[in-house]
Amino acid sequence: MRTITFILLFTLSAVGAGAQTTIYVNADQGRHTINKNIYGHFAEHLGRCIYGGFYVGENNTTIPHVNGVRKDVIDALKELKVPVLRWPGGCFADTYHWKDGIGPKKDRPTIVNQWWGGVTEDNSFGTHDFLNLCEMIGAEPYLAGNVGSGEVKELADWVQYVNHDGVSPMSKLRKENGREKPWNVKYWGVGNEMWGCGGHMTPEYYANIYKQYATFVTDWSNTSGLFRIASGANVADYHWTEVLMREVPKHLVEGLALHSYSFVEWNDKGDAVDFNEQQYFATMQTALRMEELVTRHSTIMDKYDPEKKIALAVDEWGGWYNVEKGANPGFLYQQNTMRDAMIAGTSLNIFNNHADRVRMANIAQTVNVLQAVILTKEEKMILTPTYHVMKMYNVHQDATLLPTEIFDEVKYSHNGKSLPAISCSASRNAAGKIHVSLVNIDANKSNSVTLKLRGTKAGKVNGTILKSGKLQDYNGFDGPEAVKPTVFKDFELKGENLQVTLPPFSVVVLSVE
Ligand code: AHR
Repeated sequence: MRTITFILLFTLSAVGAGAQTTIYVNADQGRHTINKNIYGHFAEHLGRCIYGGFYVGENNTTIPHVNGVRKDVIDALKELKVPVLRWPGGCFADTYHWKDGIGPKKDRPTIVNQWWGGVTEDNSFGTHDFLNLCEMIGAEPYLAGNVGSGEVKELADWVQYVNHDGVSPMSKLRKENGREKPWNVKYWGVGNEMWGCGGHMTPEYYANIYKQYATFVTDWSNTSGLFRIASGANVADYHWTEVLMREVPKHLVEGLALHSYSFVEWNDKGDAVDFNEQQYFATMQTALRMEELVTRHSTIMDKYDPEKKIALAVDEWGGWYNVEKGANPGFLYQQNTMRDAMIAGTSLNIFNNHADRVRMANIAQTVNVLQAVILTKEEKMILTPTYHVMKMYNVHQDATLLPTEIFDEVKYSHNGKSLPAISCSASRNAAGKIHVSLVNIDANKSNSVTLKLRGTKAGKVNGTILKSGKLQDYNGFDGPEAVKPTVFKDFELKGENLQVTLPPFSVVVLSVE
């Protein structure tokens, strides 16, 4: 009888443990700052990202704009607190010659956008337009230099053009084009995807080229120093990271990039809206793989740079599906659903939790391309579920990462496979307020989480949630507010335990005072 009772109790406690995730939030610890640049963006001359998305031209009379840049987009990005914006590519960057995009617009040459739809690029949006846009939204610019089809002098001249305050050929040209003071651009990419569209190079070959280019990216500003980012690995190409870290001396590099997208299958990406649970599960498998990628690339970086001076910059990430029916196939225009909210919430938690090494990440892309935060259609603009997640999470920007430990983690299972259902990160801001961001990726089940708030006396808790009836829900031009954050109340504070119930496929941010 005693044996049966024991077995019964053991079984019950095991079942209970499996259904309830416990997360310790170490509120009195924390060594690393969550660099606000983890909440960065990427805008390429691709499809309708720049033209129609950001920029509608100075002569547009139907859409309100400031010097040709949409006012609604400026306001939305200010509100989002975009810290850094990467431009002009992507693959486009290694075809871009910056001098084509300065001076009187009527005199600018046209080029063909070879990577993205073969459309004519009239260069009407150039360096001044981009840097002034960054000033308007309060973001640091991150300029991606052309290494693939450019020259060392061309990049060196660009740096001098935007950053030199004294007398020099390029500062003279800048002043002739109407800008007296330099912009002091800190972030410089030295090529993009050099293993692919940037020139199909080996890492050994690129390491040499990188050193040559980086030497002439001169710090004219004498302010906080330049931040040069080397083109990094494609997903799990650890050899690339190994070679770059081994070959490039530390005084020549401040950041190493990594690109990784989430998708169903690379050769069969499926529809952005019309997807089934199997496709959702597969997408989340690739999204959650970011944890392994960041960990393994960081481990290699630790070997050569134990002091973690060089940042890992995940300067392209996001969901990638088939282009919307009827759109130009080269334009990568896709809708954005609650699936994308799951990608955003889990990816940002991963980046936060690796704040010691990941000090920049740039979602691809800001407007009208891939996992966009904003979609536009002529004079209309909508904010996507991804926008809302990024806004809810911006409380983590420059806050101190609080270490979290997850126990008895509940799984999200589908067709015999399983993934961790709960994702979490936590931080404490300068005012002492704690924020915890939680995601339940389970497509069907609510999940309970006990947050054990160690080392703080919690008094007041507030919450915001992004949830919806169906994973496929999105904000359309006819229903722009179908998915939006609301107040979250499904929690109870008992001493140091904060008991939270997360609905299926939901993102929650709690503030604890
Ligand atoms: O973001 C779209 C493209 O994806 C970028 O141009 C390229 O860098 C990557 O392959």
